[in-house]
Amino acid sequence: MSYKPLTKAILPVAGLGTRFLPATKAIPKEMLTVVDKPLIQYIVHEAAEAGITDIILVTHSSKSAIENHFDKHYELETELKLRGKQDRMQPLKEITPEGVRLVSVRQPEALGLGHAILCAAPVIADNEPFAVLLPDVLMHHPEKGCLAQMVEAYKKMHTSVVALEEVPNDQVEKYGIAAVNGPDLRITELVEKPSVEEAPSNLSVVGRYIFTPRLMNILKDTKPGAGGEIQLTDAMDTLLEEEVMFGFEFKDGKSYDCGDKQGYLQANVEYALRDSILGDDFKAYLQTLELEK
Ligand code: G1P
Repeated sequence: MSYKPLTKAILPVAGLGTRFLPATKAIPKEMLTVVDKPLIQYIVHEAAEAGITDIILVTHSSKSAIENHFDKHYELETELKLRGKQDRMQPLKEITPEGVRLVSVRQPEALGLGHAILCAAPVIADNEPFAVLLPDVLMHHPEKGCLAQMVEAYKKMHTSVVALEEVPNDQVEKYGIAAVNGPDLRITELVEKPSVEEAPSNLSVVGRYIFTPRLMNILKDTKPGAGGEIQLTDAMDTLLEEEVMFGFEFKDGKSYDCGDKQGYLQANVEYALRDSILGDDFKAYLQTLELEK
């Protein structure tokens, strides 16, 4: 297989976010904020840090707020200039990273994550590798983003790389689960949302993937699996019959499953504590709560 540099990332954002109703009735779940930025902005910046220049949003008609967020808001900028509030412009300029383009494709029906990825096929060339980032999951690392670290592994291995993380046994049925072999975490099997009894390990697929071009072809023939949906995990398991795939352990970092209220609240607290302006005061405030108990 010939090696191609990775420049494209698919971000599936068509899901209706029913777990966060009523908050997500009129606002896409990807636009929920962690401290002062919507979730999707963190994901786009993680992709940009990894060298991604083309982001493909797989989206739905109800989610235009996401495209609007990354678009220029001419009236707002003119108004801020007129009022002499140039300092308020800076956060707007930081929304879309330099050199990154976003395009959208639609997922007309909610047929599963695998189907969502397949909807991006027309904008990925046949011989092109691509990344997938699930916007529900925030990955914090003090030095280098998760996808940027995975790109380093991809450049060495020239094959698919998938972020993995241990979860407690009672959580395996919520995730794609991988069986791995050896210290380089070569993946031998993948199962979507297995029961504890069926799970081949407790290593979950976290929501960051780098794929060789072959995966897209396999997805075209992937039949519905768990929950009656076309599962990305099933296509990955089929890919294992043809190519090697490695797990990537995200060391010294932390993931937050923001598709879940607990994970979302934890992300808000911990990102606020790390914030260079808010952090100290917020910590002092949390300590007063501790004293009140
Ligand atoms: C999806 C994937 C699953 C993965 C999870 C990570 O599931 O299908 O394999 O482990 O994301 O968050 P979902 O959360 O959409 O049910």
